[in-house]
Amino acid sequence: EKKPRTPVIWLHGLECTCCSESFIRSSHPSIEDILFNMISLDYDDVLSAAAGHQLEDQRRRIMKEYKGKYILAVEGNASTKDDGVYCMVGGDSFLNTLKETAADAAAIVAWGACASFGCVQNADPNPTGAAPVSDIIKDKPIIKVPGCPPISEVMTGVITHFHTFGTLPELDRFGRPKAFYNTRIHDKCYRRAFFDAGMFVSSFDDEATRKGWCLYKMGCKGPTTYNSCSKIQWNGGTSFPIGSGHPCIGCSEPNFWDRGPFYQR
Ligand code: SF4
Ligand code: SF4
Ligand code: F3S
Repeated sequence: EKKPRTPVIWLHGLECTCCSESFIRSSHPSIEDILFNMISLDYDDVLSAAAGHQLEDQRRRIMKEYKGKYILAVEGNASTKDDGVYCMVGGDSFLNTLKETAADAAAIVAWGACASFGCVQNADPNPTGAAPVSDIIKDKPIIKVPGCPPISEVMTGVITHFHTFGTLPELDRFGRPKAFYNTRIHDKCYRRAFFDAGMFVSSFDDEATRKGWCLYKMGCKGPTTYNSCSKIQWNGGTSFPIGSGHPCIGCSEPNFWDRGPFYQR
């Protein structure tokens, strides 16, 4: 309780903001607990009341005051083509802002598929040269928390770990925290018994769909996707894509947009 909150600068590049939407819905720990007891969200150009020069001055003040101590959270990625002109924030390219803010950060958290791996922006043919954070920043530890978006409790779980232990969580070969990305959706899926019995949905309006059989033949990427959706689920444990009748599209794996088609094996 006496531990000072960790300063966080949260940048937004090419993205859709649903990672933020997910983050603010965390129920355990609650978002209030995160914001009032664990982190000091000193800059976030989406959530801050301030805007413009006032907010950019705040970012630079935090960078100076907490040099080497702040966490840089990145939602979205950077356009690298034509000097980054396809993503301009606060009068500069996001590419420049990312490099400038990363320089004195203690570590970087790459939220979501966009910041971690590129997502739809860098899917073929990638017209803006969109590049994930790890392609641009090479000299800082980066925790990748992919998913489109990531599960809220996974996001806040990563922050809780850093705040509690002052260290990065153990990461897998893609830079994802093992605690949340060490099992496949398929390993814990409640439809697994149907998979094992060879009982598959073969059309979205067939009888097998109504009975909730396995979605493998509808293109489900659960067998090759590492994430916590089938364990902790979404919206405080309410459901997850397969629970809603849709195959997993592999949103926490690198380049999932280019690994389709989504609805075929
Ligand atoms: Fe949106 Fe997905 Fe990118 Fe998050 S990872 S900002 S949800 S497109
Ligand atoms: Fe595996 Fe997908 Fe079938 Fe679930 S629905 S058992 S994840 S193939
Ligand atoms: Fe994404 Fe698959 Fe979970 S599509 S949200 S990893 S079930």
